[in-house]
Amino acid sequence: MTAPYLDIGRIRSEFPILKREAYGKPLVYLDNAASAQKPLSVINAMKGAMEGSYANVHRGLHLLANETTAAFEGARKTAAKFIKAASADEIIFTGGGTDAINLVANSLGQEIGEGDEIILSVMEHHSNIVPWHFLRERKGAVLKWLDISDDGEIDLDAYRALFTSKTRIVSLTHMSNVLGLGTPARELSRIAHEHGAKILFDGCQGAVHGDVDVQDIDCDFYAVTGHKLYGPTGIGFLYGKRDVLASMAPYRGGGEMIDEVAIDRVTYIDPPHRFEAGTPPILEAIGLGAALDWMNAKGLGAIAAHEIALAEHALTELQRLNYVHVYGAAHGKAPIIAFNVDGAHPHDVSTILDRVGVAVRAGHHCAQPLMKRLGVSATARASFAAYNTHDEVEALVKGLQKTHEMLR
Ligand SMILES: Cc1ncc(COP(=O)(O)O)c(C=O)c1O
Repeated sequence: MTAPYLDIGRIRSEFPILKREAYGKPLVYLDNAASAQKPLSVINAMKGAMEGSYANVHRGLHLLANETTAAFEGARKTAAKFIKAASADEIIFTGGGTDAINLVANSLGQEIGEGDEIILSVMEHHSNIVPWHFLRERKGAVLKWLDISDDGEIDLDAYRALFTSKTRIVSLTHMSNVLGLGTPARELSRIAHEHGAKILFDGCQGAVHGDVDVQDIDCDFYAVTGHKLYGPTGIGFLYGKRDVLASMAPYRGGGEMIDEVAIDRVTYIDPPHRFEAGTPPILEAIGLGAALDWMNAKGLGAIAAHEIALAEHALTELQRLNYVHVYGAAHGKAPIIAFNVDGAHPHDVSTILDRVGVAVRAGHHCAQPLMKRLGVSATARASFAAYNTHDEVEALVKGLQKTHEMLR
């Protein structure tokens, strides 16, 4: 089996880390949903900035300050285009996905009062649960939980039934980091707006595996992280609709977000800079811009097609192993596959796979409510990226056969 559209050999040669071995075996890196590896173009963009053109942004009037500001703002434009935002002013750079969601919970959260309701689903990442728990604890907000089917799907009637006149915010994943299933974002968004609520999508996985169009989804916010998109850590971004951002108060104060500071008053500048207090992650934003350029050059459709082929191959093979249980529906899955091996703890599965060079994740995947819903304390998870191959799917399957022999 070969990838229909991607030159995988060439792609792999662009990721230096893929040349290394694990315990004398070729490295099979299948922990991409936790963090993806970085291509040379990202490494070189960050190194090039540090070596050739670096200064703080938005402050200086000298050559290096102007060049760095142009590169930083260029990355913002690239991020805006990547998710088809109407304007780069709707993109706020953050420290990552968690940071982006905390921004909304803290800024929009200032408008939340006792008894106001926030809708979440049971398959959220803790990053999209804990910031809302803070509003429950500190302001008396009420969290309302959308259940999923045993296959991991959302029932729109059950969703509709959660709304009341007190619903203010809906915050849902665009794709589960455990089940690899997308959510019907446009429908979810439409229903939230019908009830006068704002809606945020956690796009930390959704933006990696699909072509996102925030205008088509018509969401108020969309949170993205850089390190799963082949970019560096410490960077992500929040998309916010222009008028929604304009109406929000900042929650982090400092340099570069103010209009005027006096001893008795302070005023703020417009978004996005209103929400970017202090020196931003400049090099990381440049690295993220390079990562998005890299993905665009390969083709988002081609990457997604390759990943779906890998997921289908893996699911077909795993279904043949009657001692492996895969969680979530098999159809329409992105390449994120949570599973358990009968009679084996996922940590043991992961450790044995590791010894044959296959890196997967094991644990609760920062989704304890989902683990509870699935009736498990943990799972193993194999997740694939643009550089993974069908041979690596086979390596996973062989590793699982070995695991089963050792642990049964
Ligand atoms: C669905 C989802 N949301 C949020 C996050 C947190 O993103 P970050 O690591 O950038 O804080 C992750 C990362 O694992 C994720 O998978």
